Parts: sequence; structure tokens; C-alpha cells
Amino acid sequence: MTKLSISQESIAQYAGDALVVGMPEGQLTGQLQALDKILGGAISRLVERKQFTGEPLKVRTITTLGKLPTPYVILVGLGKEPNLHLLRKAAGSTARICRDLGAKKAGTALLSAAVEGSVKAKAQAVAEGALLGLYQFTKYKTVDKDKQKFLDNMELLVDADKADVEEGSRRGSVIATNVRLTRDLVNEPASSLYPEKMEEAVRNALKDLPVKLTAYGKKDLEKMGMGGILAVNKGSVREPRLLVLDYEGAKGAPLALVGKGVTFDSGGLSLKPADYMEDMKSDMAGAAAVFAAIKSAAELKLPVHVLGFLSVTENLPGGDAYKPGDIIKAYNGKTIEVLNTDAEGRIVLADALSYAETFKPSAIIDLATLTGACVVALGNVASGVMGTDQKLISTVLDAAGHTDDRAWQLPLYDEYSDMMKSDFADLKNISGKSGGAGAETGAAFLKAFVDKTPWCHLDIAGPAWIEKDGPLNVSGGTGAGVRLLVRLLEDWK
Ligand code: BES
Ligand code: ZN
Ligand code: ZN
Repeated sequence: MTKLSISQESIAQYAGDALVVGMPEGQLTGQLQALDKILGGAISRLVERKQFTGEPLKVRTITTLGKLPTPYVILVGLGKEPNLHLLRKAAGSTARICRDLGAKKAGTALLSAAVEGSVKAKAQAVAEGALLGLYQFTKYKTVDKDKQKFLDNMELLVDADKADVEEGSRRGSVIATNVRLTRDLVNEPASSLYPEKMEEAVRNALKDLPVKLTAYGKKDLEKMGMGGILAVNKGSVREPRLLVLDYEGAKGAPLALVGKGVTFDSGGLSLKPADYMEDMKSDMAGAAAVFAAIKSAAELKLPVHVLGFLSVTENLPGGDAYKPGDIIKAYNGKTIEVLNTDAEGRIVLADALSYAETFKPSAIIDLATLTGACVVALGNVASGVMGTDQKLISTVLDAAGHTDDRAWQLPLYDEYSDMMKSDFADLKNISGKSGGAGAETGAAFLKAFVDKTPWCHLDIAGPAWIEKDGPLNVSGGTGAGVRLLVRLLEDWK
């Protein structure tokens, strides 16, 4: 991974392979003015001709022709109201441009841009943005390996308090590294990341951290009465896992995080059509995000007690697969009539949620790539949020707002719960052919498996996986939910 470091060199002295400078819209102030002078008026001419005025995230590369020690200056627009979210994105897209220019060592002066926020918050945004923007999943590419470009070092040029910059950038690096780890897990093909391998990945990553991991296998789950996970697992030759993570950074009632970890969702006997199945190695993104958030909490030594419950299995149509019409019993004793084996996420979560509640947590939050309906509602722009406790929901929405890991509340009316009543069992796993509200009925089903604890559900099906590159993401797994959860854990009381 690219190394981040801090340098007190000035823009005029900086001698790396490229230099990034942020520009608020239409303003040639402070360091930009000085830079413009050195470059013989190159920037002011661009502004006059309206070729580059500093519009949000527009980029212009200037060749310095010996006027500066660095061969390239990359100007990035920060818009009329520069903020931390724009700064993060600007850091992401320009870091990638530095790499594509062939730079090995680049500097960024984004920290001196006139953006509202503390030095710490800015340093975090720049570090986070750069490392997220530079993410690539090249593990399986053999062609042109030697031509692949790699930025070895990104230097944050500072004119502010170095200690604050150091702390902010360390925070940003920890979070970005764990978002990248989530992306690696999500992008990994399902034939090499099945439940046992997921356990191995989690175990390895937590090896030197104060996080206790307990892994339950098929026999354990049978003894515990986890009828949901076991039913979904029946059509697969790979055994399931329930992974329980415990980070006790403070005494007291824990916060429970629950993640859907379907390492591949074929739909089961209610088989998905091919073009809906091709991305379904990503159906464990909720579990990966929960794991990455807890790892971050441990690395940042956050003073919280947090438990993670990762419900991990494949959903395949093997000879012994669970069938439409089957009635199964979840961990809390409630019975579920399975009408569609593709609505499996809610079934594996039913066990995990009701099991999590036995630890008497102060709140439960689950993350799941649960419904296509939520993708229809919000696209890959935001996660859907539903729950039973408005205070908890507001805390989640707040964390989303602060991190730009977006989330939007959807309603959870009692009518949605009525739609999940079955003629033959306590609940059915889909509402039926008419009625709509796919994301809400999915959440209403989950609601039946949390008894008294404040609970909030994040449907991350949209943002967990993207097709188009953005400033902080390349196509594939995104690590949605990790930044939100870390912020939530930082603020948790
Ligand atoms: N894993 C899918 C949801 C999904 C869809 C995630 C698209 C990411 C992108 C989930 O298990 C599923 O198949 N849900 C069904 C539920 C339906 C049968 C009620 C869906 O949304 O179609
Ligand atoms: Zn499914
Ligand atoms: Zn699924």
C-alpha cells in the first residue's frame, strides 16, 4: 500500500514527481497566488479563459517546465463551498492522477486549502481519500504486471500543527486500510472465499489485536438451534460459520453489530437469473463491514464495548437445499415459512439477531445487502435505514452525514409486519406477489427477531457494490458502512 508521510517542505521547494494543489472556485488566494506567480501566470490565465475556475472536483494538470522542482502541478477544484467531503474526494481523484502520471512520490498541499474543519479532520479526510482513491484489486491480473503503476509515497505538505496532522492522518489511514480490506473480501471470488475462508481471513487480521473471536461451525449451530443459518446452508457442501467478535475497549453493556455474510447468493432453488447472480459474491458485504469496523475500533483503541455477529454461509441449490414451502425454526423459537429461498439474508439474520440479544446489548445494528428493492429506491448512492428506535436511527444518520457514507431513512409501519404473517407459521419470508415495499417488508421481518433492544437495520445492497468508478471507488466492492460504523463507535455513549 502507498505510504503516507508528512513533510514541512513548501510548495515552491517540493521536489517530488507531482504536486496536488486545491483551488476554491474563482479564488486565487494565498498559496495559489504565489504559485501562479512562479508559473508565470499560468493559473490566472486558465481562470480568465474559464478553462479552469475551481469547480468541484474538476482537475487540471500543469506541466511546470522547470519553473518548479516538481514536473507537474495538479490543480483540483474545491467549489464555492469547500468542505471535508469534497476534500476527501479531491484527495482520492488526484492521488489516482499522480499514479497514472507515473509518479512514485507525490505531494499534496490540500491541507492548506481553505476548507472548514479542524486540522485533524482535514488530515483525516485527505489521508482517507488518498488511500481509498488509490485502491485497486489486481490480485488476479497477470497481463502487463510490470507496467502496472504504483505510487510508493504520498506526502502531506503541512504548514499547520504537525501533531494534529499526524493524528488525523493516522485515523484516516486506519479507516481507509480497513475499508480496503472490506473491498478485498467483497471482490474475492466466492469459490475462494467461502465460510471457512472467511473465518480464516478474520482470524488472521485480528491476530495481534485485543479482539476475541469465537467461531461456531455446523455442529455447534445444530446444538444451539440456529435453524435459519442451517436451512440456508443445506444446499451447499461448505459448512456455515457464526463468527462472534468481542472488543471490550470499555466496561459496560456492549453495542451489537450484526452482518449478513452470504458468501455467494445463487438464490437457492428460487434461482436467480444469470445477470442478477453475477455480482453475488458481494452478498457478504455486511459481515465484512462489521468485521472491519470492529478491527478499526481496536486499532484506534476506541473506548467502547462492541460485539460483532457474522452469519456466514453460501446459498446454493444443492440436492439437499431448503425448499419453498419448508417451515423452519429460528434461534428464538419463531417459525418461518420459506416461500422464496432467495430471501435468505433475513433468515440467516433472524438467528444472529436473536442470538445477539441474549448478550443484553444496549442496541443492535445490522448491516445487510438485503434487497434489490432498496437498490431500486436509493440506487448505489445511499443505504436504507429502518428500525425501532428513532434515537438510534438518528445516531446512525448522523454518522452517515459526517462521513458521507450515505444513509437515508425509510419507514417501518406496522402494516409491513402484517404483510409478513403466514398462514402456516409465525412469519413468511416474503410478503407475496403484490404489496411492494420490498426493503421495508424485509426490515419488518427482521424486526420480529429483536424483542426489546433498540434496533436499527441498514440495507447496504445499493452502495456495497458499484459498476462505475468514482473519486473514492473503483468498480466492485466499496466497503460501504465501514466509515459510518467507525464514526458511530467513536461517538458512542
Ligand atoms: N442478496 C439479495 C439482495 C441484493 C440484490 C443485493 C441486488 C445486492 C444487489 C437478497 O438475498 C435477495 O435476493 N433478495 C430478494 C428478496 C425477494 C426474493 C423478496 C430480492 O431483493 O429480490
Ligand atoms: Zn437472495
Ligand atoms: Zn442475498
